[in-house]
Amino acid sequence: KSIKIFAPATVANVAAGFDILGFALEKPGDEILIRKTDKTGIQIKNESAFTSMPLQPENNTAGVALQAYLDAIESKQGFEITFIKKVKPGSGIGSSAASSAAAVFGANELLGNPLPAKDLVAFAMEGERLASGSAHADNVAPALLGGFVLIRSYHPLDIIPLPTPERLCCSIIHPQIELKTEDARKVLKKQITLQNAVVQWGNTAGLIAGLFREDYALFGRSLQDVIIEPTRSILIPGYDQMKEAALQAGALGCNISGSGPSLFAFSTSLEEASRVAEAMQQVCSSLQIDSDIYVSRV
Ligand code: HSE
Repeated sequence: KSIKIFAPATVANVAAGFDILGFALEKPGDEILIRKTDKTGIQIKNESAFTSMPLQPENNTAGVALQAYLDAIESKQGFEITFIKKVKPGSGIGSSAASSAAAVFGANELLGNPLPAKDLVAFAMEGERLASGSAHADNVAPALLGGFVLIRSYHPLDIIPLPTPERLCCSIIHPQIELKTEDARKVLKKQITLQNAVVQWGNTAGLIAGLFREDYALFGRSLQDVIIEPTRSILIPGYDQMKEAALQAGALGCNISGSGPSLFAFSTSLEEASRVAEAMQQVCSSLQIDSDIYVSRV
């Protein structure tokens, strides 16, 4: 028998927390069906509208993640995974991460949970390595654990679940332009100034303090990124106008979701989050760029 796994879309970085902070959305998300098979090896089927997904397990993010998990627990069990993907690949809300997280989570469940969910992050990260050339955890960790998650350290991996303020809602706009994580990482500067580092870690710490204190104002004013956003925002047409429109519509803050091209904004109610999403979409429409919007609780 197969089981159905839901893996949420996720927002990585959250402004100041490049590669170390992410959170899960209530929706949208991907679904997979996964079952054990009698023969060994991983078989992948795709029942979603996105046909570009490679079906060979060694070229598929979920296939690679699942194989890394099976190798680690020394299992020869075969699996069949059927994708019902809803999160568009390349959208910047963790599409590849959702696939990888769902595959390892589902297999672990079918094998009687030999590992706790936190320990699955390392395997799902292998899918990210295949997708983008870098094994970042800021999408897969929240996809697996839910809520906000801090990656305190990569070596060794130290994953810290964080509290999620009750009223926090998120608006996402996905402008239909192509922006690969791999390319959006290549443009980043390798050196930063001490002055910028001070601003950045002030904001990162402020964000986390805001989560613990449920202090929306502190959280909002900490949503600033002086290191990554100036470089990456240039790759997103209309970025400054969309951000301005979100803030004008009452958002607590707005920034690039992961490596883009999506933007996220926070509000304290779903109504406000809808207004913010529509305000950003109006900017896209005025620039004749098609876009999708999502509004969700966090
Ligand atoms: N932290 C990663 C990046 C997330 O910004 O490249 C990619 O979704």
